Amino acid sequence: MALNVELLESSFAQIKVNSLEVTKQFYTVLFTDYPEVQPLFANTNMEKQRKQLFQSLVFTVNNLGKPDVLSGALRDLGTRHTQYGVLPQHYPMVGSSLLKAFEVSLGTAWTPDVQQAWTEAYEVVTQLMLKGADYLPESLILTGEQTMDTIALVPNNSLITETPEEGRQLAVKLARLIVKLTQPDEEKRKQLREVYGNDAMMLIAIGQTVATEFATIAAANNYWKELGNA
Ligand code: HEM
Repeated sequence: MALNVELLESSFAQIKVNSLEVTKQFYTVLFTDYPEVQPLFANTNMEKQRKQLFQSLVFTVNNLGKPDVLSGALRDLGTRHTQYGVLPQHYPMVGSSLLKAFEVSLGTAWTPDVQQAWTEAYEVVTQLMLKGADYLPESLILTGEQTMDTIALVPNNSLITETPEEGRQLAVKLARLIVKLTQPDEEKRKQLREVYGNDAMMLIAIGQTVATEFATIAAANNYWKELGNA
């Protein structure tokens, strides 16, 4: 993806003027919009963290023209983030909060073009960081409250659906979510589809997983009792 380097540099020059405010705003937005990530920073010196975050943004913008330097540094940063308990699904939360903080800082200079330039840049940064974060299924096993809180394994936190048909669709979705959780890399999931798509036993295993999810959903909704009484 070709980034709009000129626009990123000129808007960042303005953001830099209020760097302290911007980073404060960023963490305020992040913890307000996504309180589930706050435990990750439980033992963090936030003053130091704000500075380090901003320095890494400065480094990123300064090296937009040097893809090799940038990708190496961001890959390493991504690797370190796995040690902080950061998961792939946290990246859009940070992106949305960062862009909101930039918007506040830039005011009327936050034009649709600037917004697009930063959305694309954040996407590239995320991809580079995730390259360094080889999430193994073991590292995604839920441990403690912190991770449990951050993964929406039950959409809308409810198993209740209008009809059994929707219930069955939810069962398929839940089965998919567990696959996504254990293998967050889209590319690897694509490769694996080839494998299980051609293996009858694996396909039956998928059917069984969905059936178990559906049995749970059906029990929660009392479908059969209510349909029988109708
Ligand atoms: C554009 C993406 C991001 C950038 C540029 C960034 C930058 C940084 C930097 C520079 C540090 C200092 C430590 C180090 O260099 O290893 C850090 C630490 C940290 N970041 Fe990020 N980060 C990003 C995304 C995220 C995301 C998505 C999360 C999840 C909520 C996150 C949570 C943390 C945590 C928990 C720490 C450790 C704080 C501590 O030392 O206790 N970061 N980040």
